[in-house]
Amino acid sequence: SKLTFSTSSRPDPLADEARLAILDDPGFGVTMTDHMVRIEWTREGGWSNGELLPYGPISIEPAAGVFHYGQEIFEGLKAFRHSDGSVWCFRPEVNGARLQRSAKRLALPELDIDDFIESLKVLVSADEKWVPEFGTGETSLYLRPFMIASEAFLGVRPANGVTYFVIASPAGAYFSGGIKPVSLWLSTDYARAGDGGTGAAKCGGNYASSLAGQVEAAEHGCEQVVFLDSSTHTYIEELGGMNLFLVYADGRLVTPELTGSILEGVTRSSILELATDLGLRPEERRIPIQEWKDGVASGEITEVFACGTAAVVTPVGTLKWDGGESTVGTEAGETTMKIRQSLLDIQYGKADDTRGWMTRL
Ligand code: COI
Repeated sequence: SKLTFSTSSRPDPLADEARLAILDDPGFGVTMTDHMVRIEWTREGGWSNGELLPYGPISIEPAAGVFHYGQEIFEGLKAFRHSDGSVWCFRPEVNGARLQRSAKRLALPELDIDDFIESLKVLVSADEKWVPEFGTGETSLYLRPFMIASEAFLGVRPANGVTYFVIASPAGAYFSGGIKPVSLWLSTDYARAGDGGTGAAKCGGNYASSLAGQVEAAEHGCEQVVFLDSSTHTYIEELGGMNLFLVYADGRLVTPELTGSILEGVTRSSILELATDLGLRPEERRIPIQEWKDGVASGEITEVFACGTAAVVTPVGTLKWDGGESTVGTEAGETTMKIRQSLLDIQYGKADDTRGWMTRL
């Protein structure tokens, strides 16, 4: 790694009392910590030294490519406090590798995985007191690395000036209301991504594209939207911002296979690995939406859950669509909770990390 980080003067940090009140009930993505990391890239010079700066507004020219053509990618991962006070990150090298794949797709420069992990370490060590205490439920410090086209130029081509940032925000549950099942709206008017598009990349555009469907979901009283494949409108892809799993009575655990238009969730792939430990039979394949409706009606499908770094594992209760609905459960299912707990136990250091998934920050 060629990066070295310089520290600028610290801002007036929030008083301890105010910070502790926020950490008590952080919500999701509401409060940012005291610092941020910034690394600049130019086509001639590559990545320059990173900086640790006070968190705050940034100055970028209005002509920067990110504002016009959406050349942007991001990551999401969490830092967890263990019982001995140490702070750990879950599979950061997997997020670092995905950021590189996203960069390729969006014609942005790749950041070394070591530099990616170093950027997280620099921010978390500066803002360590923002990592919630151990044993406070589902709380962590959510890390948001992102990369934008910052060169001021209105032609449509990959930017020659790019900026990478990491910001952080203490996080509780993504959905308010505890671990109660969320309802999903089946979007038929909109798709999230298409063949050959950016669906597998973690770029802001995919999330922008999900919002109209998300608004439609809210209008129908649902927390999230389900998107189908854009070419046949038959197969389940993913939700607005998380992957989906179906639990079958016979022990199968099924999730849509990666087709190029689905985000390769780190939680998704971790659950596929954990499933066999829990006596489940994981399956990645195309799932027609009709199979969900029929499977719930026949009792073959017993649970459905959503997963993601932000959502962890969130039970799904009802699927609604134009003209009908299907409810798989009104409470969190047993298998869903078992998977959720085994993941959280690894993340909080309560279970042995037999796969080497945790990195100390
Ligand atoms: C995640 O970090 O889980 C995301 O996909 C981003 C968003 C849903 C908060």
